[in-house]
Amino acid sequence: MFPSLLFAVPLIGGWLYLHYSKQSRYPPGPRPSLIPLVGNLFDIPKTQQWKTFSDWGEQYGDLVMIQLMGKKICIINTYNAAQALLTVKSSIYSDRPAMPMVNELQSYARQRKLFDMGFSARNTSRYHGIINLGYSIVEDDPFVRIAQQAQLAMVSAARPGAYLVDLFPVLKYIPEWLPGASFQKVAREGRELSTKLQTKPFATEQDSEHDTDIRAVTAVMYATAADTIFSSVLTFILAMLHAPEAQKAAQDELDRVISHRLPGLDDRTQLPYLNALVKEALRWELVIPLGVYNGYVIPAGTTIIANQWGMAHDPGTYDQPYEFRPERFLGNHGLPDPASIAFGWGKRACPGRYLAEDALFLFAAMTLTCFTISPASRPVPFPCSFALRHPKAKDLIDNNL
Ligand code: HEM
Repeated sequence: MFPSLLFAVPLIGGWLYLHYSKQSRYPPGPRPSLIPLVGNLFDIPKTQQWKTFSDWGEQYGDLVMIQLMGKKICIINTYNAAQALLTVKSSIYSDRPAMPMVNELQSYARQRKLFDMGFSARNTSRYHGIINLGYSIVEDDPFVRIAQQAQLAMVSAARPGAYLVDLFPVLKYIPEWLPGASFQKVAREGRELSTKLQTKPFATEQDSEHDTDIRAVTAVMYATAADTIFSSVLTFILAMLHAPEAQKAAQDELDRVISHRLPGLDDRTQLPYLNALVKEALRWELVIPLGVYNGYVIPAGTTIIANQWGMAHDPGTYDQPYEFRPERFLGNHGLPDPASIAFGWGKRACPGRYLAEDALFLFAAMTLTCFTISPASRPVPFPCSFALRHPKAKDLIDNNL
């Protein structure tokens, strides 16, 4: 036994030396477990991981390296580092994790490419006039039901780490009937819902490739837009409860600039406080707190997590980050636009961002023209009441529906 120890000690020593001298070239981070594959698994909480990532940011710096399932993960905690890595060097850090569960097995990948064309800032402004046209939704609407089910299936399939096939793409070839392949059934049901969403709302089911593309983009648009816009609207309402003085300041501005009609997107430039309020709502609660990217360096194949929540709450960037203070975005403030954090980075940034900002602005402007939002009895899940601000507000709403 003694001679084998003589060999083993320098071997293990050599491995540890190589391992840690290589590690020291990477950004710092909490030490991973020495148990194979475990890495930092037990250091990461199950919920609100972004808060732990921000704590690590304070301890280790802008970039923090951790390990999971034998893979390296680099967390970006500050706006400047994210700009440098994900915007300036976008081409080398913009890879998306493959995510076969949602992209291939539920076949959503192709439609994403068409989005950038359709929803550029210029094209979005062309849709302003047609926002109210279209199909009128009825109670328990069958099309909305299909859309909601398809959206749920897509969002659930896209959860990072939810399906082993995302880590081991070769699993996509195993048939549904094999034990342990229940993800194939989930994927098939998601695919069927996606097909229904792309065909049922339309009069005919057979048409040109062009029409198929339009249907597909509409389906992805619903799946990506409904929840995100709804979530930002909820944040706006919560913020109005949290900061009644900001609500009052926005209403004063609306009353001063526009009277006797509902505001529209054309009024935007005349309403700097309301614009600042919408920016602050995007910053205050992030709809998507973490972005996941794949990079080629530090070292190749590293997964990159952009801690968007941490950037928006970095006191080095935004003073008193937990306060809802639209004033911070008035005048020449020199602060990063929260939209550049909330909507992702570089080539991977959200193609629906202009539409989303317009929608949130319109919702805030119209709501604050007609209503005062105040707390109802209990704060969680924050029931609140919308009281008409003046008798004419009812006419404004009725005349515009
Ligand atoms: C407040 C509302 C919204 C927020 C905060 C938001 C945020 C984001 C973010 C952070 C991403 C990048 C995700 C990633 O790849 O890491 C993204 C992607 C995407 N968003 Fe949005 N989004 C919003 C609204 C919308 C709307 C209204 C649409 C459609 C009209 C839309 C369509 C998309 C699509 C299609 C992608 C995938 C882009 C790609 O695969 O490259 N989003 N969104």
